Amino acid sequence: MIAAHNISLQYGKRVLFDEVNIKFTQGNCYGVIGANGAGKSTFLKILSDDISPNSGSITIEPGKRMAVLSQDHFKFDEHSVIDTVMMGHTKLWEIMKEKNAIYMKEDFSDADGIKASELEGEFAEMDGWNAESDAANMLSGLGVTENLHTILMSELAGSQKVRVLLAQAIFGNPDILILDEPTNDLDINTIAWLENFLIDFKNTVIVVSHDRHFLDSVCTHITDIDFGKIKSYTGNYSFWYQSSQLALRQKQSSNKKAEEKKKELQDFIMRFSANASKSKQANGRKKMLEKLNFEDIVASTRRYPAIIFDQAREAGDQILHATNLTKNGLFSGLDLNVRRGDKIAFVSKNSMAMTALFQILENEVKSDAGEFSYGQTITTSYLPNENDKFFDGSDNLIDWLRQFSDDEKDEVFIRGFLGKMLFSGEEVFKKSDVLSGGEKVRCMVSRAMLAEGNLLILDEPTNHLDLETITAFNNALKDFKGTILFTSHDHEFVNTVANRIVELTPNGCIDKELSYDDYLSNDKVQEQKDKLYA
Ligand SMILES: Nc1ncnc2c1ncn2[C@@H]1O[C@H](COP(=O)(O)OP(=O)(O)OP(=O)(O)O)[C@@H](O)[C@H]1O
Ligand SMILES: [Mg+2]
Repeated sequence: MIAAHNISLQYGKRVLFDEVNIKFTQGNCYGVIGANGAGKSTFLKILSDDISPNSGSITIEPGKRMAVLSQDHFKFDEHSVIDTVMMGHTKLWEIMKEKNAIYMKEDFSDADGIKASELEGEFAEMDGWNAESDAANMLSGLGVTENLHTILMSELAGSQKVRVLLAQAIFGNPDILILDEPTNDLDINTIAWLENFLIDFKNTVIVVSHDRHFLDSVCTHITDIDFGKIKSYTGNYSFWYQSSQLALRQKQSSNKKAEEKKKELQDFIMRFSANASKSKQANGRKKMLEKLNFEDIVASTRRYPAIIFDQAREAGDQILHATNLTKNGLFSGLDLNVRRGDKIAFVSKNSMAMTALFQILENEVKSDAGEFSYGQTITTSYLPNENDKFFDGSDNLIDWLRQFSDDEKDEVFIRGFLGKMLFSGEEVFKKSDVLSGGEKVRCMVSRAMLAEGNLLILDEPTNHLDLETITAFNNALKDFKGTILFTSHDHEFVNTVANRIVELTPNGCIDKELSYDDYLSNDKVQEQKDKLYA
């Protein structure tokens, strides 16, 4: 068990937590939700003692081991991949090091012998002999192939590093596992692997995610951060969402009698549990809805940002033409004729293929073969996958956004713009390097909107965004009159925006004018895919 007692934290006038008291108990998986900037990451950092609150304390049941998914992608650069995973179990790792140091000694004494056998005992007790093979299995499950296990972390691409750090966190069966948006850089198969792992995991999990599907399949509880308070509810995300909607409706119809309300709630719970028991959710330890604190469910009042993409000028007939575009190992032979108004979703087993393609189209990276050209009238608005380099300065938000605005430099315009992206009042004076993950993406979306391009290039636009912002973004892209090239692991997003799907593989590409669902269920496409990935 891990518990927070009277936690308060405030930045300037902004109160993140006001006397928060909450407990997380063994065997449960808590999905932490809340708007971008609500304080989810900050709360996890308080739990793991990474930052101190203004007041209050955290207690952990004695003898329990906590593991945290590292957010620092460079911390283990000097270590091999397999060692990095095993280092997740600090105690075991130290024993291994100590043991090896003794065996390396040239003047091995009797005392050394005794010490070594003690260490061997502890090592065996922690299942040390299986550590390396466990670590290797975990890596393989996460899609890190065996040839990469012995190389250095510094040699890995970002998306591979994330998997290794995830393996590190879950290695050696921690008692409390803390994960902040673990699915962000993972492909669908790896997400499925993680879901299964967490469903079988017997200890406590506290995981932040904006991914509904993920939350629904792993969570036994939803922990909502809103208005400076944190509260847990029994049930998965869908249950929380539907019941909070019901609570909102009931609140609005105040003339209903208390008994009627209660009856409505009970019916709702009955229906919901009947459905839930059919799904994967119902297995094993997922004893949903045993005890329901329905009366406490508060209707959430989340805000939607205003996302609108305008074009400075409409495009002519020529948009983009590519022939035989190739990036070795990622994709090859891409012939592409983009028509005005196309909304093309790029997909691949390897998400690095799309990032490479977009970087080539933005002239940030050179292709290994082939060429491409834009029509004369084309200007692009680009949302890159990585945005760290945009936020290393200490500008406040007004100055940050001003640098991307050519004509309209006055503060009223910029403030108006920031307001639409939900930064209001004093918030606009905070420094760009303290922003939360989702707030940074909201700023990058503002930058893309200011560019007023007639061709949008979006690399995983929904990463880090909260559900309200994803919805607003989704609608903006449906309404956009120009042309879009994008990639996203959000199924609904892809399915509702794209009219054309292009699959990138190292052995060639597929280009189909189909919706995403039709593309996925098309037998011919499947045959083609089997060949290309074989
Ligand atoms: N040093 C600081 N000074 C001022 N504000 C800060 C500071 N550090 C964080 N914040 C603010 O605190 C809020 C909470 O940040 P946090 O990263 O916890 O949000 P989050 O809920 O994880 O959001 P996201 O969903 O975008 O990841 C944000 O609005 C952020 O800008
Ligand atoms: Mg966060």
